[in-house]
Amino acid sequence: MKNQKIREIKEFGDFQTPSDLALQITGLIQNRGINPSTIIEPTCGTGSFIFSALETFPNAEIIGMDINRDYIEIIKKKLDQSEINIKVDVKQADFFQINWKKQIDSLQKPILIIGNPPWITSAEMTVLNGQNLPIKTNIHKFSGLDAKTGKSNFDIAEWIIINLLESFNGYDGILAMLCKNSVARKVLTYCNNNKLMVSGASMYSIDAKKYFQAAVDACLFTCDLKPDSYNYSCRIYKTLESKNPIQVIGFANGELIANVSIYQKWKHLQGQSQYTWRSGIKHDCSKVMELAKKEGFLFNGFNEQVLIEEEYLYPMYKSSDIANNRLDDIRRWMIVPQKYIGEETSVIKDKSPLTWDYLNKHSKRLDSRASSIYKNRPRFSIFGVGKYSFSLWKIAVSGLYKQVIFRLIRPYKDKPVVLDDTCYLIPANSFEEAVLLYTLLNHPVVKEFYTSFIHWDAKRPIQKRILQYLDFKKACDEIGHKMILNLAFENFPLANFEKMEETLSHFS
Ligand SMILES: C[S@@+](CC[C@H](N)C(=O)[O-])C[C@H]1O[C@@H](n2cnc3c(N)ncnc32)[C@H](O)[C@@H]1O
Repeated sequence: MKNQKIREIKEFGDFQTPSDLALQITGLIQNRGINPSTIIEPTCGTGSFIFSALETFPNAEIIGMDINRDYIEIIKKKLDQSEINIKVDVKQADFFQINWKKQIDSLQKPILIIGNPPWITSAEMTVLNGQNLPIKTNIHKFSGLDAKTGKSNFDIAEWIIINLLESFNGYDGILAMLCKNSVARKVLTYCNNNKLMVSGASMYSIDAKKYFQAAVDACLFTCDLKPDSYNYSCRIYKTLESKNPIQVIGFANGELIANVSIYQKWKHLQGQSQYTWRSGIKHDCSKVMELAKKEGFLFNGFNEQVLIEEEYLYPMYKSSDIANNRLDDIRRWMIVPQKYIGEETSVIKDKSPLTWDYLNKHSKRLDSRASSIYKNRPRFSIFGVGKYSFSLWKIAVSGLYKQVIFRLIRPYKDKPVVLDDTCYLIPANSFEEAVLLYTLLNHPVVKEFYTSFIHWDAKRPIQKRILQYLDFKKACDEIGHKMILNLAFENFPLANFEKMEETLSHFS
């Protein structure tokens, strides 16, 4: 396929739904007792959902549109051939130019909004230099650092679904759309935050690899629309055929809980955390800043041998080391040019001239790091650095892996081990404090508490915000101080028992 065609397919999210899948979906909606008077397919493509809707709901009026004129012609031709064009109105239109609110009053209710909007993010669109975007983009109203670090990136499907739900707010009907699971959760969060009228939702997992050759967790997302209803709980089904949900997700204190029943069991442990979780170090230039040791020599990501002073060099673990418990040996070192955010770096020149020369040699890469957080900062700046980064003892967890396992990080040859920015950590003041934190956090009660918040198919399932929810005092009281001490001593007999007792007493 020509590059231009591939680019267009990506820009317009042009992956047509197979007709058997579309038919299964309209059948599912019918089986839920829904009988729509009007059906809207806002990005109808070649019409899989239009034709499945015609078959399943022969009495409904159907409205379809797509930006691609050729697709509309294909549908019209097909309709002409089948002689069933009486109630089907299809036209070429750009979703972003339509004022949906204006058209609603004239439509017969209940309404079924169905389809499969483009699965592409605004950031991917920018890379493609694509124009298929709404004018107003910051839908979740992110500002400052969140916007700069990419939280303002959104899916086109997310924007389309939110726009539809806002336009149809207060009307009777159902929205049923294929989308990524992450999109469905963001839409639900938007509904909850903006109190849209919704009387429940569902996510039915689909095999995106099989139907769309997409390596992503996706679903049929349904949202029941009902005037004066504000129920944002969402049933999760394993497949389109499943009769019973495997779990229910829903909101508590503004957070989308991943498992409401487990959360109910442990929600009394939620509160003010006595510890502050921190991120590992962010430098966005691993080829320069991370060095691997081979036969006693350090090499950077370009396989160049690097000879620099010890001063700014720290042993490090990556997320994979933390997740796979590869803590017995140090495989990598990180150049850490600052002790705190914004620290002047020009002092490196006198303190460690070889390190300064090395950083300057690679200054082109370091100076051109894309993220705007590095702009107007001292040269070679890093983020996620502070006193905590240099604590000798730490408790760490990887944010990327599908497991809640906390590791105890020890110093390496009297130097603190630093972590990459996909890890989270708590600094501990002593070995004994680290042992206690390790024991408490790895206790099944705490793991279950955290699990209730974690959406495992998210890009970064474990997040700092979630870690911060645990009230350590309440967790200690739940498990019992004696139990924690015994478990800690059993696993770490070298720890000083009295010191642990002392430290733990501060928890109550
Ligand atoms: C994932 S395909 C799905 C097509 C169809 N809904 C289906 O399920 O088979 C996305 C469709 O959105 C259309 N599209 C992309 N951007 C659009 C826009 N701004 N307005 C209307 N349609 C658009 C594309 O042409 C494409 O047909």
